[in-house]
Amino acid sequence: MDFVITGGAGFIGSHIAKHLVSTGHHVTIFDDLSNGKKDNLDSIINKIEFVNGDIRNFDLLKNTLKDTDGVFHEAALASVQESFSKQQEYHDVNVNGTENVLKLGKEFGFKIVYASSSSIYGNPAKIPIEEDDPKNPINPYAQTKLDDENLAIKYAQMGVRVIGLRYFNVFGERQSRAYAGVIKKFVKKVRNGEPPIINGDGQQTRDFVYVGDVVQANVLAMNSNVDHGFFNIGTNSTITVLELANLIIDSFGLSLKPIHGPELPGDVKITKADISRAKKLLNWEPKTRIEEWLKSTITTRTNLDLITD
Ligand SMILES: NC(=O)c1ccc[n+]([C@@H]2O[C@H](COP(=O)([O-])OP(=O)(O)OC[C@H]3O[C@@H](n4cnc5c(N)ncnc54)[C@H](O)[C@@H]3O)[C@@H](O)[C@H]2O)c1
Repeated sequence: MDFVITGGAGFIGSHIAKHLVSTGHHVTIFDDLSNGKKDNLDSIINKIEFVNGDIRNFDLLKNTLKDTDGVFHEAALASVQESFSKQQEYHDVNVNGTENVLKLGKEFGFKIVYASSSSIYGNPAKIPIEEDDPKNPINPYAQTKLDDENLAIKYAQMGVRVIGLRYFNVFGERQSRAYAGVIKKFVKKVRNGEPPIINGDGQQTRDFVYVGDVVQANVLAMNSNVDHGFFNIGTNSTITVLELANLIIDSFGLSLKPIHGPELPGDVKITKADISRAKKLLNWEPKTRIEEWLKSTITTRTNLDLITD
């Protein structure tokens, strides 16, 4: 089949691209390289089409999407901290850009599986978080993702097949700074024998989900007979940021003590996904645990470079 991946040169999009190519699909990537890198695609670059474009450019997007069977829409500006100083740009790319994809879904009839975010829940009222729980975004980035969901609902009512996957904290090879950047920062410090720096007391909990599992969720959602809906994509297990720091220190066989800095504004305190809806309707289940992945990755130099680059 023919698929387009917006944001396909980024962390998650490039993993989706590699999987689709390896399973015999034709892939076109639409990315403006504002944060993604062609290097992320080096092993498949000769097997895919690459369009260097901005999702706000409606005509170019239309030309790229007109004959596709399905769109994995990953393109977005994704830094919580940056979204405070660039609110208008974040809205423009994340909301208006997403509406362009939805408009074209309406015109051409392809199915859309897109990246929503656990950040729409804000600080949750209860744990684990279920999909219908209240949405209280606490930063401009999260607000753009909630606006996208409202657009998805509106376009679904017009017949567009659109599924939003609410990723929790995605980790893995070539991970981006957003979300799982904490792993990258800690590993960089600890591999140099320096203590990791934690923002706040380190008691923030995170639900880290492996990128390979996120790829599976995308593929299952695209192939499912579900036309519209939102799904938590996490693991239903958590680790505190302090535990994560200590796990990385242990994995290097060192005995360092983390340093604590000030808390970050807009930083959510607790996340933990209830994933029963994705299990039931998409037949999806995460397979890789962060503890095991970190231990095995840290012992291999080449893999380690893929975390810290
Ligand atoms: N990484 C996570 O843990 C996580 C969690 C929740 C949601 N998400 C969402 O998942 C998606 C992918 O995230 P990621 O971690 O791979 O980030 P990423 O920054 O690595 O990938 C995003 C890609 O979008 C591209 N892009 C940005 N603006 C664009 C534009 N105007 N036009 C075309 N391309 C553009 C970037 O160049 C980049 O390649 C994003 O929508 C993000 O908000 C990620």
